[in-house]
Amino acid sequence: MFKLGWFVNGYSPKTWTGPWAGNHASEWTGPNFWIDVARGLERGGFDMFFMEDSAMVEDTYGGTAETTLKYAEMAPKNDPMPLVPLLSTFTRHIGIVSTISTIQYHPYMAARLGATLDHLTEGRVGLNVVTSVSHRVAQNYGYERHFDHAERYQMAEEWMDAVNALWGSWEEGALVHDLEEPRFADHKKVHPVDFVGKYFRTRGPLNTVPGPQGRPVIAQAGGSAPGRDLAARNADVMLGLVKSPEDMVEFRADMDRRLREYGRDPEDLHIFFMAHAFIGEDDAAGKERYQRSVDHRTHPDEIEKRLWTMSYTSGGEIDYAKYDRHGPIPTELGNGETTTHKLMLAAAAEGKTLYDLVTGPMNYGMDFVGSAKTIAAQMDEVMKSTERPDGFLIQGIDDELSRRTLTEITDGLCAELQRQRLIRTGYSGRTFRENLSNWD
Ligand SMILES: Cc1cc2nc3c(=O)[nH]c(=O)nc-3n(C[C@H](O)[C@H](O)[C@H](O)COP(=O)(O)O)c2cc1C
Repeated sequence: MFKLGWFVNGYSPKTWTGPWAGNHASEWTGPNFWIDVARGLERGGFDMFFMEDSAMVEDTYGGTAETTLKYAEMAPKNDPMPLVPLLSTFTRHIGIVSTISTIQYHPYMAARLGATLDHLTEGRVGLNVVTSVSHRVAQNYGYERHFDHAERYQMAEEWMDAVNALWGSWEEGALVHDLEEPRFADHKKVHPVDFVGKYFRTRGPLNTVPGPQGRPVIAQAGGSAPGRDLAARNADVMLGLVKSPEDMVEFRADMDRRLREYGRDPEDLHIFFMAHAFIGEDDAAGKERYQRSVDHRTHPDEIEKRLWTMSYTSGGEIDYAKYDRHGPIPTELGNGETTTHKLMLAAAAEGKTLYDLVTGPMNYGMDFVGSAKTIAAQMDEVMKSTERPDGFLIQGIDDELSRRTLTEITDGLCAELQRQRLIRTGYSGRTFRENLSNWD
């Protein structure tokens, strides 16, 4: 058996053009679309609904926000935090993960918010801890430019230590609830943390009581060495970008080693590997869909969007609009999502042009193609070959998400996976963390 998560690139417009968009261009801001998504994913047996977040209107590409706003590329984007309790109210079991940035939230605010959300979701919140990618985000929060990659992770480690200290500031048994004496809490079991680091200071104790999970589920997505260490020390969930089952095994083995180094049980980390499902009524329809997506890459809009994405992934340091599309691929690596950027630039080593690169395969996870039955068999084969019950993190093709996409996945693919008992058919745990270690 394996797990499933759905990755959505933020609380932002999804499929807003084309025949299945409905009135999404305006509907996305309200609650109903997202409630339908969360409920659908739960019906399908997903373990989690995972929401990326970033806080900027990028203007690196071409030195203007025109492309960003023309295609709604990562902007506009609403704050996903308020969606968390809303979605948990309309579902009963699925984990709801929202992204939290270590440069946007002071540790006290993050710890307090995380604990509050844990209460409001009755133990189903997860926080995806990120260091943010681009200079524009850092500038929105008062910094002149973003911190260098290594420093960002040092900061994130310290941030996590401070947040953990605050979550630990209420000992077990601190809540007395003696109605006779009366005594609400025992002050001897609630402690200041007096955290003093290079980047953050916080006195504590937290003024919220621990939530049902003790601390929210922690997720981490950075695949560089410091990203992996951050996950190995702190995360329950990790996102992996790999292209093959062999890479999955290698990734898993590396994480197992790192967890052991930090004295943790490797079983406590659940890795979700990014995947795309090109699903059709039958195999031929799935293949056609895949081919349509490949052909679409040469559309001028797609080329511009891919170049835009590369500029963002570089951390807002490289303007890919400046380069000759038919010339060599600039090999400079930015300060942003280094793992993703390296995967993108891998084509440079093969002597390809920038045009070849942006019209070529995405290198952003694994692709599965065919009918629901075929994809279920392919997924099963991959997971069996790795001999680890990890999970797939499914993202819509080109971040496509409409109610049609949802139905294809939940009532098509998931129903098939459930019939074959490859994914859960129910949730026996009380909390998100408990369910991560359970299968039905
Ligand atoms: C699948 C995936 C999801 C991510 N989600 C976010 C996000 O929501 N917000 C954000 O600022 N960065 C996000 N990132 C960026 C990472 O958290 C990390 O900061 C970045 O990839 C740099 O890490 P690396 O150099 O260790 O790969 C994501 C990265 C990946 C691969």
